[in-house]
Amino acid sequence: SAEIKKKLPLADKKVLITAGPTYEAIDPVRFIGNHSSGKMGFAIADEFAAAGADVTLITGPTAQKLQHNNIQRIDVTTAAEMLEACTLHFLQADACVMSAAVADYTPIEVAPQKIKKQNSGLTIELKKTTDILKTLGESKQSGQVLVGFALETENEEEYAIQKLQKKNLDLIILNSLNDAGAGFKGDTNKITMIDASLQKTIFELKTKTEAARDICLKVTELINRL
Ligand code: CTP
Ligand code: CA
Repeated sequence: SAEIKKKLPLADKKVLITAGPTYEAIDPVRFIGNHSSGKMGFAIADEFAAAGADVTLITGPTAQKLQHNNIQRIDVTTAAEMLEACTLHFLQADACVMSAAVADYTPIEVAPQKIKKQNSGLTIELKKTTDILKTLGESKQSGQVLVGFALETENEEEYAIQKLQKKNLDLIILNSLNDAGAGFKGDTNKITMIDASLQKTIFELKTKTEAARDICLKVTELINRL
């Protein structure tokens, strides 16, 4: 019998996703990290793979597992490692969704041995990490879709729009920590999307899988439009 194979919406498209926290070493046993679980980014990666995209997932340390087995997973630890992997893979990408919670600061020096406790306090000098998303935005070619997240606790939309514009994004996904059920750890999220024309869409509280589907649909629209 004649087989009708339906072409998936993102067949032949390469999508780069980042997820999870980064860990910035203080000494051989300690690091600066954050509460990102990686759930949102992994759900996004699975959703794009289900839509037929060729997905590369660059992830910081997390216990998450992927549902799809055709995703290229690259594990990194630090912001600097994530920058290097992203810079390399963004060149071939049709779209990139940067959901990782990248550390903004990293210790200037990593102590070579475990820092022993003293009676005095401890001061650790930090330097800013490179903004990966902003770096990708500066190298973005026409036709590439670049999506960022914004995690805010106040002036949410104003700050999100500033990030959208400063980082040369096509879409920003706003996560407000003021919304119950939203944020880092749980299985649900409440997002607002703002695109480059400042068109805003507010979504209901949903599971992260459902939110990932909304993101995938919007990015598909943008890929087809650009
Ligand atoms: N981001 C990044 N590289 C960094 C910091 C952030 O790529 N060094 C990305 C995040 O992955 C996210 C977006 O930038 O997609 C916004 O991150 P967020 O922490 O909300 O904003 P920042 O620009 O870091 O500003 P601030 O933390 O001061 O709000
Ligand atoms: Ca930040």
